[in-house]
Amino acid sequence: MIQVPWWHGSRGLETPTPRFAESWARRQLKPIMVLQLPTAPAVSSDTPLPWLTDTQLPAASCVPEETVGAYPLLRRYGVTAPHQQKIPREYFKMAGPERDEKIWALKRQMGKDLVVLGHHYQRDEVIQFADFRGDSFKLSQQAAGRADAEYILFCGVHFMAESADILSQPHQKVILPNLEAGCSMADMAKDADVRAAWDTLEKLGVTNVVPITYMNSAAALKAFCGEHGGIVCTSSNAGRVFDWAFERGEKLFFFPDEHLGRNTGFKKGIPQEKMVVWDPFLPLGGNTAEALQSATLILWKGYCSVHARFSVDQITKARIDYPDVNVIVHPECRLEVVQAADDDGSTEYIIDKVTAAPAGTTWAIGTEINLVNRLNEELPDKHIFCLDPVICPCSTMYRVHPAYILWTLEHLAAGNVVNQITVDETTAQNALVALDRMLSVP
Ligand code: 13P
Ligand code: SF4
Repeated sequence: MIQVPWWHGSRGLETPTPRFAESWARRQLKPIMVLQLPTAPAVSSDTPLPWLTDTQLPAASCVPEETVGAYPLLRRYGVTAPHQQKIPREYFKMAGPERDEKIWALKRQMGKDLVVLGHHYQRDEVIQFADFRGDSFKLSQQAAGRADAEYILFCGVHFMAESADILSQPHQKVILPNLEAGCSMADMAKDADVRAAWDTLEKLGVTNVVPITYMNSAAALKAFCGEHGGIVCTSSNAGRVFDWAFERGEKLFFFPDEHLGRNTGFKKGIPQEKMVVWDPFLPLGGNTAEALQSATLILWKGYCSVHARFSVDQITKARIDYPDVNVIVHPECRLEVVQAADDDGSTEYIIDKVTAAPAGTTWAIGTEINLVNRLNEELPDKHIFCLDPVICPCSTMYRVHPAYILWTLEHLAAGNVVNQITVDETTAQNALVALDRMLSVP
């Protein structure tokens, strides 16, 4: 076990990077709590991680995520995240209420020219500014439906902002407050690797395959699906998208989330032996030609480092501690976790379900901590807690901070567009085909 101290810094609750801890030690301040965590695996490479290179805003919980091995995998992929330029320190030093007031004033000044979208995993300090909160699907609908706003400030992660750019009108500009807010799962499927896998499948005579990309993927993969008769799905419509795809082909190639794919396949009655996993680092994805030829569902080997941490043991413990507990998890969790839970669904589904539940009920939730904490605060008549006892925000969502929001809005108000997310025209056109197919699925 290792001990991880947490501190209440100017940016809220923070884990210490070495530089951060050193500065606090110099000021002789004490951590406000110390978490006991399993020892993180040794980091083999000296290459700095894309999420951790810029210490201007320390990662929220890199140690817990490290325990599920996502970073070594991303290192293996050679992932290079977009770089966020440093913003003046004053934005971070400013007192929270002063910074908030400036953001509200800019929002009022920009009026209908600005719409702020916020994903449910954003921290409270950010979500307070959102005109619309939602899951990936709902936010993509909002992006497609707010043609009056010149600027869409997307408080979420990179793939969401890309989709908003594709779905919005040409005159609209999509802004991501911090360019380093990516998604480690989306980075696990690279365009070139997916195309190479597709070519291999074709050469093996594995045809009549419909590609499906999860919304959590780069625009290039959505374009790939658009080009190859495929479609996009989110966690809220994966089942219906599978139905759509099976009306058009015999087999599905699903990326990048192995678990959402398997959970959805399981619900559709696809036997386990008809689901194979494609590991891009192995010949034939780690399969035999025969296994690929007889598979119904080919799942890309990718996962979410936040949801991979939920376990059946945690569910067992929740049931022992609270015999009347309702366990609800996100379908990015592993199959055995989803099976052991009472229910599963997208972030929006989880919120709706718990909100509609009778007062006095108990809920153990298997998803990102900001959503769980907010639900707990908003619904005091229910007992709500996170399945995982270790506080674990999505460290990339956490990179969106009010300091960046103020910085981007001040620039926009002055007519200087910063942090715009643009998808090139050909990619956008092909990706739009796949996104439109998804939006038209009943
Ligand atoms: P939702 O579509 O359920 O909001 O999920 C997005 C996500 O990134 C979950 O990790
Ligand atoms: Fe990506 Fe997981 Fe974060 Fe969702 S929670 S944005 S899938 S890393």
